[in-house]
Amino acid sequence: MSSIAVYPGSFDPITLGHLDVARRAAGIFDELHILVVHNPAKSPLFSSEERVELIRASLGELGIHSGAKLSVDTLDSGLLVNYCKMVSASTIIKGFRNSSDLDYELPMAQVNKDLAAVETIFMASAPEHGLVSSSLVKQVAELDGDVSKYVSRAVARALASSSANRKG
Ligand code: PNS
Repeated sequence: MSSIAVYPGSFDPITLGHLDVARRAAGIFDELHILVVHNPAKSPLFSSEERVELIRASLGELGIHSGAKLSVDTLDSGLLVNYCKMVSASTIIKGFRNSSDLDYELPMAQVNKDLAAVETIFMASAPEHGLVSSSLVKQVAELDGDVSKYVSRAVARALASSSANRKG
């Protein structure tokens, strides 16, 4: 039986930390579905379609090839565990950088296990990505800082053009 996992998140936008987790998870599972999930608690900068495109471009840039083994999809409504069932995934992958991430993630992992017996596996972020978050990257880009250490070139370009558009 093949092992199938889902790596969900807002990915607004995807960072090098997320991409590192995706690459490592893709090496462990037979199939990995990177899933852009609508989080009603957040107001995203990029549409879900733009986030999917940025993930695909970033995977290509880093030589992480999406195809049968690695796919990128969106979930705009409904439960994550229902998507997991639909693609026959029994595992959710989450990255964590610190104990605050675990405090945030643990209840979701417990609810997902309770709802549908889907297990969550946490992957520790690589130390060099420990301070990277989508929200900080957006803030740095908005203030014309250099985000090239934190995101792919495609994401850096998208952030720069979104910031330029907003400034008119
Ligand atoms: O990157 P984020 O915003 O922290 O990701 C959180 C996300 C979107 C993965 C989480 O909110 C989620 O799984 N939402 C889907 C709705 C759902 O299944 N909720 C119940 C269990 S958490």
